[in-house]
Amino acid sequence: MADDSSHDDGPVQGRRGFLGQASNFAMAAGLVGGYGAFGAVAARYLYPARPDTGSWQFVADLARLGVGDSLRYQAPGGETVNITRRARDGVAEDFIALSSTCPHLGCQVHWEDANQRYFCPCHNGVFDSAGVGTAGPPGDAGQTLPRYPLRVDGNLLFIRVPTARLVADAASSGRVIDDDCASAPGHDPCLSPLARPPRDGELG
Ligand code: FES
Repeated sequence: MADDSSHDDGPVQGRRGFLGQASNFAMAAGLVGGYGAFGAVAARYLYPARPDTGSWQFVADLARLGVGDSLRYQAPGGETVNITRRARDGVAEDFIALSSTCPHLGCQVHWEDANQRYFCPCHNGVFDSAGVGTAGPPGDAGQTLPRYPLRVDGNLLFIRVPTARLVADAASSGRVIDDDCASAPGHDPCLSPLARPPRDGELG
């Protein structure tokens, strides 16, 4: 009698073969994924991300600011900075660059030379000439305005700002901006969602 069992097992064998291949594929994918994740962790351990040390950007001629004057600069990445002149020696130490974004709720602060302070009109926040909160919500919370490094080359003033956001917004360039918010009370005219101060370690 002819043995026709091979005919009966055909579909079963086919199903088993398919299931076997699928399981092999799943195992291989799992191994690749596992090794990939392990590799990523190992790479992060061996080559930790370096802090963003920033790039130097031109701000203005030194003569643009007299002692006691302040201008507002917007970096290519959107950060806004008050640059205030405190001396006339022609060196970077004549100036101080502090974020103009209030660490309380993000309004724009401005320099008041007569009071030797930075002032935030939204909730009467006050900072001393070094950017340390002394009154209002920033004073209560012990908040400060992040500081940016400055450099003088000849008669030109440069500021170092984070580069991470320059890459994302490479089309724009830094510029001095009018201080529209200095006299504008309330939140809306002064809120600047783009004006993020640098994170810890971005600038040294
Ligand atoms: S946002 Fe500046 S004090 Fe509130």
